[in-house]
Order: sequence, then structure tokens, then C-alpha cells
Amino acid sequence: MTDRIAASVIEIGDQIKAVGMSAMMIPEKRSVLHSWCVQAEWDAPQIVGGKGAEFWDDAGRVYLDMSSLAECMNLGHQHPRVIRAIQEQAARLCFVTSSWGAEPRAALASRLLELSGFTGGRVFFTLGGSDANEHAVKFARQASGKRHGKIGTRDRSYHGASYATMALSGDSRTQDVDATAFGVMRVPPPYAYRCPHGTDDAQACAARNVAHIGAEIRRVGAENVAAVLMEPNAGTNGIVAPENHWPLLRAETAAAGILLIADEVMSGFGRCGEWFAWQRHGQSGRPDMMTLAKGLTGAHVPLGAVVVAQHVAERLEHSMLLTGLTYCGHPLACAAGIAARETYAAEGLIERSRTLGRGMFERLRAMQRKHAVIGDVRGGDGLFAIVELVKDRNSREPVSSWPALHPSMRAFAARALAQGVSFAVRGNLIILAPPLVIGEKELHGALDLMNTLLGELDWS
Ligand SMILES: Cc1ncc(COP(=O)(O)O)c(C=O)c1O
Repeated sequence: MTDRIAASVIEIGDQIKAVGMSAMMIPEKRSVLHSWCVQAEWDAPQIVGGKGAEFWDDAGRVYLDMSSLAECMNLGHQHPRVIRAIQEQAARLCFVTSSWGAEPRAALASRLLELSGFTGGRVFFTLGGSDANEHAVKFARQASGKRHGKIGTRDRSYHGASYATMALSGDSRTQDVDATAFGVMRVPPPYAYRCPHGTDDAQACAARNVAHIGAEIRRVGAENVAAVLMEPNAGTNGIVAPENHWPLLRAETAAAGILLIADEVMSGFGRCGEWFAWQRHGQSGRPDMMTLAKGLTGAHVPLGAVVVAQHVAERLEHSMLLTGLTYCGHPLACAAGIAARETYAAEGLIERSRTLGRGMFERLRAMQRKHAVIGDVRGGDGLFAIVELVKDRNSREPVSSWPALHPSMRAFAARALAQGVSFAVRGNLIILAPPLVIGEKELHGALDLMNTLLGELDWS
């Protein structure tokens, strides 16, 4: 009897607390600062669930996700295998610092070294992509002995939002940071559609771009450059380098004795049809380090990593590693990483990305033949493609000046959303990066809608 009364008191107490909480809750629009937007303009529905390539809001509206949210939910929403691994690890051990060993941390590091073929290398775990890139730069400077060595990055790139990674990024949103203060050496992008090196030929554009990077390294002095950091394939600002760019860049940096860091934060884990995009080129694409995040756990929990080759690891072996974040190598996140890796393999998602990506790319090329507004279609090595919209195919004038949104681009995203499809758009680009688990029918349904909307809207 006493127990029943006690239980009721607890229950009533919980109800009061719950009522109190909801009465007190300030709407998200007024309580949270949101990323990369004007706060006054943020107005988004509350998402309450998801499954596979879909997620839904509190009003019961379902959205097909054509961008994996921030190109990170490669495994789709709420993958049961990853959720189970998180639950099991949470019940066993949530956290120990990196002063102590943790089985999931060691297991995930082994898997990553195995997948990348970095035999004898090491893995440093971070909390996401920005800190992975920042640490890669730190390690490059330490390992090369060039303590203030410059880091080469390209215009129209994105490597993160911490101060140092904003400096590394050649992004329209990061121009307020003084890149030179962070030792960044900026080079033009291998943007074949608008080649900064004056050629219409994609391969030649890539070759000239790499030659330019080589010349810059010689101008500054190779002894003053610690590393070059670039994305090997998927371009966060819509630039997908021509096929020959990465191997040429690898050869150029190797010849100059400069470390090459592959930012695989977005391109990794099947997004570009390989575990890691550089693997398309085999050994001639192998970087000295690579950075990971997003697909590493399929965004189920935050985790990033820097994977370093043996020769870099050896240079770091006997001097103090001057870094450490409290949550580096968090066991819960590593357990999610292990489950994610198993899922990509068990469900054949890397191959699936390649196959569906090819189909998606063909559809986009067909749309290009139909709609004059499509100037260029890039990507297609996996479920990643960029569609660039122009006013005029001959002049290649963009429908809006970068990174402004044309009113019809805004309408395109809004109308698609009203029909239950969430597309990512930026400037004059439509970015297609659906979860690798998306059904073929769902994918083609979304592409049908895109085709219709492109035809309906006025792009003048
Ligand atoms: C290529 C690339 N590098 C780095 C980052 C930064 O990662 P995070 O947002 O996890 O810090 C991103 C994020 O979009 C990215 O696309």
C-alpha cells in the first residue's frame, strides 16, 4: 500500500514537472541560435522521427531526403543496427577519457586502417569534420617539422566553421577570417566549367591547376609549405574536380615533399562510390592523411577522425602530441562507427551508391538536354551530383550571382518541399546527395518532380 502511494506521488510529481516544462518551453525560434542563417529568418518545422530515406515533422508531414540532411546521413535515418549498437554500448560503458583504453575505440581504429590500407598508421578521433581538419593541419606541421608551414587550400572550398578551418575554407561565408594569419596559401579551384586557367578542356584545366599549385609551392619555397588540404571528389561548394586532378595533385605534392591531406568528410563512406573517394585512383591517389566525419557514424552521433599513414605516425611517435579534446574517441560514438561500417558492408551500400549514382547522373544529363537552364551536371561517381543553373548556355552566366539564390531556386525548393521532397540548393546549384539506402523508385520519383519543377519555373 505504502509503495503504491509512493509510486503515485512520483507519478503525479512527474506530471507536474512535465506540465511545468511544456508551459515553460520557449519556442526553438526564440531560444536557439541556428547555424549559417539569419536568425530572424529561421522558421522550420520540428522533426520528430525518420526511417530510411524519409523523415517527418510533428504535423505528420513526411519528407523524402534528397541531401542526407547535411550530406551526412548516408545510412538513412534511424538505422536500427546503429541504434542497437549505441544502446548496447550505452548500457556497458558511455565514457572514458583517452588516458584509458576503450575497446570500441581500438576496434574502430583497426577497421579504418584496414579499410584505407594505411597499414602501420594511426587514427586520431575528433568530434566532427572541422576539428578533424584542424588536427590534420596540426599533425602535418608537427610531422613535417615545419612548425609554421603553410597549408595550401583552394578557393570555393569548405573545411569547417572553427576559426582555423574557416581560414582554410575558400568559402563566401568565411571571408571575414584572415587566412594569411593562419598560414593558409589559397589557390584557384579546378573548376572545369569555368576554368580559371583559360581552357574549356576538363583534363587540361586539371593539369594546369596542378601545375599552378606546383608553381605556388616553388614560389613560397617547399620548405615553407607543410601540406595541401583538398577534397578528392565531392565539392562542398559545387566544384567536382576532373578525374585526373587528384592523382596529378598527389604526384605534384609528393615530388615537392609536401604532405597531402584528403578531406573525406563529405566524400567518404560511399558518397562518391568508394569507401574513400581517393581510392578510385588506387595507390596513385593515396594521400598521407585523410579526415573523416559525417558518414563515419551516418550522423547518428557526432564523430570525426584523422587517419594518418605510417610514415606520418612514425614522425609523431616520440614527441608530445600537443592536443586533446575531452570527448576524443568517445566509446559511444566509436561503437556507432563500428556499426555503421558493418552496415555499409552488410548492405552493399558502397556498390549501391555507385549503381544508383550512375542512374541518377544519367537522368540529370537527360534533364540537361531538355532544360536550357541546366548549364552543367557534375559528379555521379556515387550518389552525389551537382546541377549548375545558368541564364544562358553560351555565356554560362549563372542564374544568380554566387552565392545568392534566384527567386525561382527558392520556389523550386519550397514547391518540392510542399510535395514532400527535401532538396538542398545553394546559389545557382542543386546538390543531390540522398541516403545510400534510398529506394530506386523514391529516387526516380524525386527526379521526376525535379524535372517538372525545372520546366515550370521562370529562370529569366
Ligand atoms: C568537406 C567538408 N569538410 C569539413 C566539414 C566540417 O565538418 P563539421 O561540420 O562536422 O565540423 C564539412 C561539413 O560540411 C565538409 O563538407
